[in-house]
Amino acid sequence: MPLVTSTEMFKKAYAGGYAIGAFNVNNMETIQGIVEAGKECNSPLILQVSAGARKYANPVYLKHLIEAAVETTGLPIVMHLDHGADFEACKSAIDDGFTSVMIDASHHAFSENIEITKKVVKYAHDRGVVVEAELGQLAGIEDAVNVKAEDACFTHPDEVCEFTEKTGCDSLAIAIGTSHGAYKFKPGQKPQLRFDILEEVGKRLPGFPIVLHGASSVPQDRVAIINQYGGKMPDAIGIPEEMLRKAASMAVCKINIDSDLRVACTAAIRKHFAEHPDHFDPRQYLGDARAAVKEIVKHKITDVLGSCDKA
Ligand code: G3H
Ligand code: 13P
Ligand code: ZN
Repeated sequence: MPLVTSTEMFKKAYAGGYAIGAFNVNNMETIQGIVEAGKECNSPLILQVSAGARKYANPVYLKHLIEAAVETTGLPIVMHLDHGADFEACKSAIDDGFTSVMIDASHHAFSENIEITKKVVKYAHDRGVVVEAELGQLAGIEDAVNVKAEDACFTHPDEVCEFTEKTGCDSLAIAIGTSHGAYKFKPGQKPQLRFDILEEVGKRLPGFPIVLHGASSVPQDRVAIINQYGGKMPDAIGIPEEMLRKAASMAVCKINIDSDLRVACTAAIRKHFAEHPDHFDPRQYLGDARAAVKEIVKHKITDVLGSCDKA
């Protein structure tokens, strides 16, 4: 099976009340860990690539690694551009064979966001590629951009119909209180998401796939391992998995996870060196990192997203 778009995946996910995991990829071990989990769970997958990932790994390497994932697993896999900054970034990904792109023009004024998104949709749809757009702004760090919590803003349900009709986008990322990175809520702070906004958006756009960015849960056991073995991660609270289950049962069809994979990798590598200070073969510690990614992705697919056996 070649790379696919998310169209069929989202239709089934919406109807079935589950979500597809969109996992960020930067290197071979992460891709292998994710797709080994996907294969064992027989789950569809979205592998997403940020501008930072393309810069780090070289777009050609990432593309061929993802194609290798498709070839070795036979799973339905989407190759998605995460947070495309402008038309040119999306065009370059589409020309490179991505089957899905995100145009993130949410920091522009509403009318400008529509114009930019519309242009990307035209270019993408003419080539059989689907487009995720965004309304509202999340807090946190994406690439070099750090959006402070006070500058973040929730999506206005009043805008979603006009936006999706005028742009023709295929899915919509909304801001309901999730945020990027490993520090979402302060210790002692009670995590809260605006499910009322999600519900209202779902009513205004029946059947339309909604996307949740910044959805890592930041597993405390892995943070504890990192800190036990010399790390210095501040206490941090992510999105409780119970809230992600609820979102997946509503209109959310795509849940983005990056930080959890980073935390899992780092915990595994720190533990490896603490237990084997004599090791210097990267296959030994990167092998542990790959196994840790596989374990966390399996957990997400089976216990949180509900996409097991939906490939
Ligand atoms: O939303 C951003 C993703 O976590 C990607 O992060 O831009 O550091 O690759 P990155
Ligand atoms: P996290 O930082 O919560 O993993 O979010 C990742 C994301 O939204 C990628 O687009
Ligand atoms: Zn994101």
